[in-house]
Amino acid sequence: MQKVLAGTMEEFPIGTQKIVELEDDYVLVVHSISGFWAIEDRCSHDDNELFGGEVTDNTIKCPRHGAKFDLETGKALCLPAVKAIKSFAVSLEPDGVYVLSRD
Ligand code: FES
Repeated sequence: MQKVLAGTMEEFPIGTQKIVELEDDYVLVVHSISGFWAIEDRCSHDDNELFGGEVTDNTIKCPRHGAKFDLETGKALCLPAVKAIKSFAVSLEPDGVYVLSRD
């Protein structure tokens, strides 16, 4: 299992979105009102970045054509995306917010 520091808690007020690299993936780390989430920063519809998309509780909307994804599972929730994207575990530790690979 790999683990990468995304930032300190001070760097992650609610509404923050950050990109980190974990193994071969760019991972979008989001702090929403419902918690911390980490998903692949790649829309399964047409490879657009999800960074900057509108976040509501535990969903994010692709800025390009509006597909929505579940931030916890990566599941596609509406068209035009139909395939899930990867999701990652988040660990809150004394020195900050970490993203973990799932293997
Ligand atoms: S690229 Fe994301 S909905 Fe089309």
